[in-house]
Formats: sequence, structure tokens, C-alpha cells
Amino acid sequence: VTPQDLAGLDVLVTAGPTREPLDPVRYLSNRSSGKMGYALARAAFLRGARVRLVTGPAHLMPPPGVEVQRVETAGEMYEAVLQHFDSVDLVIKAAAVADYRPGEVSPQKIKKQGQAMQIELARNPDILAELGRRKKAHQLLVGFAAETNDLEQNALAKLTGKNLDLLVANDVTLPGAGFDHDTNVVRIFGRDGVVEALPLMDKNRVAQKILDRAAKLLQSRQGA
Ligand code: C5P
Repeated sequence: VTPQDLAGLDVLVTAGPTREPLDPVRYLSNRSSGKMGYALARAAFLRGARVRLVTGPAHLMPPPGVEVQRVETAGEMYEAVLQHFDSVDLVIKAAAVADYRPGEVSPQKIKKQGQAMQIELARNPDILAELGRRKKAHQLLVGFAAETNDLEQNALAKLTGKNLDLLVANDVTLPGAGFDHDTNVVRIFGRDGVVEALPLMDKNRVAQKILDRAAKLLQSRQGA
């Protein structure tokens, strides 16, 4: 049986890529499928939580029982997440949010011109870092990091730099890990210094492992 250790809690999960428009027919995006975030939303609901899933464009069935809110751009995701943040206990940011967007969106389709073309990009807001600044004592923040190199160093820098409680790092160069796979290979870093290195497993099982750790932290805080 599934433990009901998230009963009565409000959980917000983000998933998928964002799309940053360049003109009416083109956008910048990334290879995120949304599978990890959808697995987390489903698992949190099964453990008794009220779950809202803020998702970028993904070709996946919305998990039953979960309130789904669809967005396209990082700006829209920022608005949606900030709107709900104050009333949630746990936020898991599994979305692959674009760091940059085209600085200007052309109202008309951009025509071919010459042999080279330049696009100026503007920085998107870092949603998770903003949540880290606003976080209250009862709230738990879980971030993700997709790394190709220096995984441990980058993971620890994000954990403290963004004021997170847990950081899930995946080496996207490993076979069966990261974008678009049904499986993942992750390490979960906590503020207590405990690092769990999990073997290759299905994303639904990875989701359970992440929620095991989050539920324990939430319980210890509510008991405190
Ligand atoms: O620093 P980096 O972008 O690798 O951090 C990844 C984590 O931060 C993920 O949890 C991602 O959802 C979140 N993020 C965000 N807003 C951004 C960029 C990343 O919330 N603009």
C-alpha cells in the first residue's frame, strides 16, 4: 500500500520544457519531455497530497486527480508558480526552464536574410531562486539539476545558492538518464549533507524516492 504521508499537504510541481517565441512560427526550447515532473505529481497525489502541476508543452496524459495548469514560456511559468506559492507546503521544480528568451518577439514571420543572422537573447527570471528568497519556515523547496560535468560541485552550489532543501541531480550524459527517457539515474543532495546515489530506475520509482525524503523533512519540521 502507498503511504499517506503527504495527506493534507499542498504540493506544487513544475514539469516539461518552456518555449520562448521568436516569431509567430518559431521558438527556442529544450529536450525535456515532462516525464519526471508528471511522475512526481502522480506519486504525490497517490500519497495523499493536493497537487497542482504547472506544465510546459508535453505530450503526456495528465495524472488523474491533479490540477493541471498549462503554460508556454518561462514568464508564464513564473506568474503561475508565484501565484500559488504562498499556499503550498512543498514545491518541486522539475521543469527545464529556459534561461534565456529572444529579446524581441517579431510580430511577423522573420524572413531569410543573408548568410548569417544574429538573435539577441534576454535573461529569464530564475523562478526557483525567487522562491528560495520568499520561502517560509514551513515550506520545502526541491530543485533539479541536469548536468554534463562537475555534477557534485554544481549540485551543491545550487542547493545553497538557491536556498533549496533538496537538490536532485542527474548526469544527462549517462545511458538511460535525463531527457525523454523513462528511466533516470539521480543523486539526491540534502542540506544535512546526506547524498543518496540511486541506481538506474524507472522515473516513477525515482519520484517515490524523492517524496520519501521530502515527506521525512516535512514531518520533522511539523514535529519541531
Ligand atoms: O540553475 P539551473 O537552471 O540548472 O537550476 C535548475 C533548477 O532551477 C530546476 O529545478 C529548474 O526548474 C529551476 N529553474 C527555474 N527557473 C529558471 C531556471 C531554472 O525555476 N529560470
